[in-house]
Amino acid sequence: MIAVLTGAGMSAESGLSTFRDSGGLWEGHDVMQVASPQGWAANPELVNSFYNQRRRDLQTAEPNAAHKFLGDLEDQFDIHVITQNVDNLHERGGSSKVLHLHGELLKVRSTGNADLVYDWTGDLRLSDVCEEGYPLRPDIVWFGEEVPAIPKAAQIVYTSQLFLIIGTSLQVYPAAGLIQYVKPEIPIIYVDPRPSSIYGTDANNIHVIAKKATEALPELEALITQYL
Ligand code: APR
Repeated sequence: MIAVLTGAGMSAESGLSTFRDSGGLWEGHDVMQVASPQGWAANPELVNSFYNQRRRDLQTAEPNAAHKFLGDLEDQFDIHVITQNVDNLHERGGSSKVLHLHGELLKVRSTGNADLVYDWTGDLRLSDVCEEGYPLRPDIVWFGEEVPAIPKAAQIVYTSQLFLIIGTSLQVYPAAGLIQYVKPEIPIIYVDPRPSSIYGTDANNIHVIAKKATEALPELEALITQYL
Protein backbone atom coordinates (compact mmCIF):
# COMPACT_ATOMS: atom_id res chain seq x y z
CA MET A 1 0.00 0.00 0.00
CA ILE A 2 1.20 3.47 -0.90
CA ALA A 3 0.41 6.39 1.43
CA VAL A 4 0.61 9.89 0.00
CA LEU A 5 0.64 13.11 2.04
CA THR A 6 -0.17 16.12 -0.13
CA GLY A 7 -0.34 19.87 0.47
CA ALA A 8 -1.12 23.07 -1.38
CA GLY A 9 1.77 22.54 -3.81
CA MET A 10 -0.18 19.61 -5.27
CA SER A 11 -2.82 22.05 -6.55
CA ALA A 12 -0.42 24.91 -7.44
CA GLU A 13 -0.28 23.83 -11.10
CA SER A 14 -4.07 23.80 -11.15
CA GLY A 15 -3.95 27.52 -10.44
CA LEU A 16 -4.83 27.39 -6.73
CA SER A 17 -2.33 29.43 -4.74
CA THR A 18 -0.35 27.91 -1.89
CA PHE A 19 -0.24 29.36 1.59
CA ARG A 20 3.40 30.16 2.20
CA ASP A 21 4.76 30.88 -1.25
CA SER A 22 5.07 34.56 -2.04
CA GLY A 23 1.66 36.01 -2.85
CA GLY A 24 0.07 33.06 -1.07
CA LEU A 25 -3.55 32.66 -0.13
CA TRP A 26 -3.44 34.85 2.90
CA GLU A 27 -2.94 37.95 0.76
CA GLY A 28 -4.36 40.82 2.74
CA HIS A 29 -5.69 38.47 5.38
CA ASP A 30 -4.13 37.51 8.70
CA VAL A 31 -4.59 33.74 8.83
CA MET A 32 -6.11 34.03 12.30
CA GLN A 33 -8.78 36.37 10.85
CA VAL A 34 -10.04 33.90 8.23
CA ALA A 35 -9.07 30.42 9.44
CA SER A 36 -9.63 30.27 13.19
CA PRO A 37 -12.61 30.00 15.56
CA GLN A 38 -11.64 33.40 16.97
CA GLY A 39 -11.76 34.90 13.48
CA TRP A 40 -15.18 33.35 12.89
CA ALA A 41 -16.49 34.71 16.19
CA ALA A 42 -15.11 38.18 15.48
CA ASN A 43 -16.11 38.57 11.82
CA PRO A 44 -18.03 35.65 10.28
CA GLU A 45 -18.82 37.72 7.17
CA LEU A 46 -15.08 38.09 6.42
CA VAL A 47 -14.54 34.35 6.94
CA ASN A 48 -17.46 33.46 4.67
CA SER A 49 -16.25 35.87 1.96
CA PHE A 50 -12.76 34.31 2.13
CA TYR A 51 -14.09 30.78 1.62
CA ASN A 52 -16.69 31.93 -0.91
CA GLN A 53 -13.83 33.27 -3.05
CA ARG A 54 -11.92 29.99 -2.66
CA ARG A 55 -15.05 28.04 -3.66
CA ARG A 56 -15.38 30.24 -6.77
CA ASP A 57 -11.68 29.73 -7.60
CA LEU A 58 -12.19 25.98 -7.33
CA GLN A 59 -15.06 26.02 -9.87
CA THR A 60 -12.57 27.02 -12.58
CA ALA A 61 -9.67 24.82 -11.43
CA GLU A 62 -8.95 21.44 -13.02
CA PRO A 63 -6.98 18.47 -11.67
CA ASN A 64 -3.42 18.59 -13.03
CA ALA A 65 -1.25 15.74 -14.33
CA ALA A 66 -0.02 14.97 -10.81
CA HIS A 67 -3.58 14.49 -9.50
CA LYS A 68 -4.30 12.24 -12.48
CA PHE A 69 -1.03 10.31 -11.96
CA LEU A 70 -2.08 9.42 -8.41
CA GLY A 71 -5.57 8.55 -9.67
CA ASP A 72 -4.13 6.26 -12.35
CA LEU A 73 -1.86 4.51 -9.79
CA GLU A 74 -5.05 2.95 -8.37
CA ASP A 75 -4.99 0.57 -11.35
CA GLN A 76 -1.79 -0.97 -10.00
CA PHE A 77 -1.62 -0.25 -6.29
CA ASP A 78 -3.67 0.19 -3.16
CA ILE A 79 -3.03 3.91 -2.73
CA HIS A 80 -4.41 6.17 0.01
CA VAL A 81 -4.18 9.94 -0.36
CA ILE A 82 -3.98 11.94 2.86
CA THR A 83 -4.36 15.58 1.94
CA GLN A 84 -4.14 18.90 3.76
CA ASN A 85 -5.96 20.43 0.82
CA VAL A 86 -9.62 21.31 1.03
CA ASP A 87 -10.16 21.22 -2.74
CA ASN A 88 -11.67 18.23 -4.55
CA LEU A 89 -8.98 17.90 -7.23
CA HIS A 90 -7.68 14.53 -6.00
CA GLU A 91 -11.17 13.07 -6.36
CA ARG A 92 -11.66 14.70 -9.76
CA GLY A 93 -8.22 13.39 -10.76
CA GLY A 94 -9.39 9.81 -10.16
CA SER A 95 -8.37 9.08 -6.55
CA SER A 96 -11.07 7.19 -4.66
CA LYS A 97 -9.38 6.92 -1.24
CA VAL A 98 -8.84 10.52 -0.11
CA LEU A 99 -8.67 11.57 3.52
CA HIS A 100 -9.07 15.33 4.03
CA LEU A 101 -7.22 16.26 7.22
CA HIS A 102 -8.28 19.92 7.11
CA GLY A 103 -11.86 19.49 5.86
CA GLU A 104 -13.46 20.18 2.51
CA LEU A 105 -14.24 23.48 0.78
CA LEU A 106 -17.37 22.08 -0.87
CA LYS A 107 -18.94 21.12 2.46
CA VAL A 108 -20.48 23.21 5.25
CA ARG A 109 -21.67 22.16 8.70
CA SER A 110 -24.05 23.27 11.39
CA THR A 111 -22.60 25.43 14.15
CA GLY A 112 -25.08 23.83 16.54
CA ASN A 113 -24.77 20.15 15.56
CA ALA A 114 -21.47 19.03 14.01
CA ASP A 115 -23.13 15.88 12.68
CA LEU A 116 -25.11 18.00 10.22
CA VAL A 117 -22.82 18.38 7.19
CA TYR A 118 -24.04 19.51 3.76
CA ASP A 119 -22.56 19.65 0.26
CA TRP A 120 -22.21 23.31 -0.72
CA THR A 121 -20.89 24.72 -4.00
CA GLY A 122 -22.20 28.31 -3.94
CA ASP A 123 -21.60 31.24 -1.61
CA LEU A 124 -22.35 30.74 2.08
CA ARG A 125 -24.21 33.56 3.82
CA LEU A 126 -24.76 34.10 7.52
CA SER A 127 -28.49 33.73 6.86
CA ASP A 128 -27.96 30.13 5.71
CA VAL A 129 -28.99 27.78 8.53
CA CYS A 130 -29.10 24.01 9.09
CA GLU A 131 -32.34 22.01 9.51
CA GLU A 132 -32.19 22.74 13.24
CA GLY A 133 -31.95 26.48 12.63
CA TYR A 134 -28.26 26.98 13.50
CA PRO A 135 -26.03 29.07 11.20
CA LEU A 136 -23.81 27.10 8.83
CA ARG A 137 -19.99 27.38 8.76
CA PRO A 138 -17.34 26.12 6.34
CA ASP A 139 -16.53 22.44 7.09
CA ILE A 140 -12.85 23.32 7.40
CA VAL A 141 -10.50 22.48 10.28
CA TRP A 142 -9.33 25.89 11.46
CA PHE A 143 -6.13 26.67 13.32
CA GLY A 144 -6.47 25.52 16.90
CA GLU A 145 -9.22 23.01 16.14
CA GLU A 146 -8.93 19.23 16.47
CA VAL A 147 -7.95 17.22 13.38
CA PRO A 148 -10.34 14.24 13.73
CA ALA A 149 -8.82 12.31 10.80
CA ILE A 150 -5.33 12.11 12.28
CA PRO A 151 -5.66 8.68 13.97
CA LYS A 152 -6.90 7.13 10.73
CA ALA A 153 -4.15 8.91 8.76
CA ALA A 154 -1.49 7.67 11.20
CA GLN A 155 -2.73 4.09 10.77
CA ILE A 156 -2.54 4.41 6.98
CA VAL A 157 1.02 5.76 7.14
CA TYR A 158 2.08 3.10 9.65
CA THR A 159 0.89 0.27 7.41
CA SER A 160 2.27 1.69 4.14
CA GLN A 161 5.04 0.07 2.12
CA LEU A 162 5.94 3.39 0.46
CA PHE A 163 5.33 6.97 1.69
CA LEU A 164 5.07 9.83 -0.80
CA ILE A 165 5.06 13.49 0.25
CA ILE A 166 4.03 15.94 -2.46
CA GLY A 167 3.75 19.74 -2.29
CA THR A 168 3.76 20.51 1.42
CA SER A 169 6.13 22.68 3.48
CA LEU A 170 5.70 20.26 6.41
CA GLN A 171 5.20 23.24 8.73
CA VAL A 172 1.73 22.56 10.06
CA TYR A 173 1.07 19.94 12.73
CA PRO A 174 -0.32 17.40 13.33
CA ALA A 175 -0.25 16.76 9.54
CA ALA A 176 3.54 17.16 9.30
CA GLY A 177 3.94 14.80 12.26
CA LEU A 178 2.54 11.89 10.26
CA ILE A 179 6.08 11.20 9.04
CA GLN A 180 6.93 9.74 12.45
CA TYR A 181 4.57 6.83 11.74
CA VAL A 182 6.60 5.62 8.75
CA LYS A 183 8.41 2.41 9.66
CA PRO A 184 12.24 2.84 9.45
CA GLU A 185 12.61 0.42 6.55
CA ILE A 186 9.94 2.10 4.42
CA PRO A 187 11.18 4.40 1.63
CA ILE A 188 10.04 8.04 1.61
CA ILE A 189 9.87 10.10 -1.60
CA TYR A 190 9.42 13.87 -1.13
CA VAL A 191 8.44 15.98 -4.18
CA ASP A 192 8.74 19.76 -3.77
CA PRO A 193 10.62 22.41 -5.82
CA ARG A 194 11.75 24.03 -2.57
CA PRO A 195 11.81 21.07 -0.19
CA SER A 196 11.67 21.69 3.55
CA SER A 197 13.90 19.75 5.95
CA ILE A 198 12.37 16.48 7.09
CA TYR A 199 12.25 15.96 10.85
CA GLY A 200 10.77 13.34 13.10
CA THR A 201 11.57 10.18 11.21
CA ASP A 202 14.27 7.53 11.52
CA ALA A 203 13.47 6.32 8.03
CA ASN A 204 16.77 5.54 6.37
CA ASN A 205 15.71 5.79 2.75
CA ILE A 206 14.54 9.28 1.78
CA HIS A 207 14.51 10.52 -1.80
CA VAL A 208 13.95 14.22 -2.45
CA ILE A 209 12.85 15.25 -5.95
CA ALA A 210 13.28 19.04 -5.96
CA LYS A 211 10.86 19.63 -8.81
CA LYS A 212 7.26 20.72 -9.37
CA ALA A 213 4.80 17.87 -8.99
CA THR A 214 4.02 17.48 -12.70
CA GLU A 215 7.72 17.70 -13.67
CA ALA A 216 8.67 15.05 -11.12
CA LEU A 217 6.28 12.39 -12.47
CA PRO A 218 8.72 10.39 -14.65
CA GLU A 219 11.28 10.14 -11.81
CA LEU A 220 8.52 9.42 -9.30
CA GLU A 221 7.10 6.64 -11.47
CA ALA A 222 10.56 5.07 -11.86
CA LEU A 223 11.15 5.12 -8.09
CA ILE A 224 7.73 3.61 -7.34
CA THR A 225 8.42 0.81 -9.83
CA GLN A 226 11.83 0.26 -8.25
CA TYR A 227 10.39 -0.08 -4.76
CA LEU A 228 7.10 -1.90 -5.36
N1 APR B 1 4.62 21.22 -7.08
C1 APR B 1 4.97 20.72 -5.86
N2 APR B 1 5.16 21.48 -4.76
C2 APR B 1 4.99 22.82 -4.91
C3 APR B 1 4.64 23.42 -6.14
C4 APR B 1 4.45 22.56 -7.25
N3 APR B 1 4.11 23.04 -8.45
N4 APR B 1 4.56 24.78 -5.95
C5 APR B 1 4.85 25.00 -4.65
N5 APR B 1 5.13 23.84 -4.03
C6 APR B 1 5.47 23.59 -2.63
C7 APR B 1 6.13 24.76 -1.93
O1 APR B 1 7.54 24.74 -2.14
C8 APR B 1 5.79 24.45 -0.46
O2 APR B 1 6.76 23.63 0.14
O3 APR B 1 4.27 23.37 -1.93
C9 APR B 1 4.48 23.68 -0.56
C10 APR B 1 3.29 24.47 -0.09
O4 APR B 1 3.47 24.71 1.27
P1 APR B 1 2.37 25.56 2.05
O5 APR B 1 2.01 26.76 1.25
O6 APR B 1 2.89 25.71 3.45
O7 APR B 1 1.10 24.63 2.06
P2 APR B 1 0.83 23.38 2.98
O8 APR B 1 2.10 22.69 3.35
O9 APR B 1 -0.22 22.57 2.31
O10 APR B 1 0.20 24.07 4.29
C11 APR B 1 -0.33 23.19 5.27
O11 APR B 1 -1.23 25.07 6.46
O12 APR B 1 -2.20 27.07 6.07
C12 APR B 1 -2.43 25.82 6.56
O13 APR B 1 -4.38 24.53 6.61
C13 APR B 1 -3.47 25.13 5.76
O14 APR B 1 -3.49 22.93 4.82
C14 APR B 1 -2.70 24.09 5.00
C15 APR B 1 -1.53 23.81 5.91
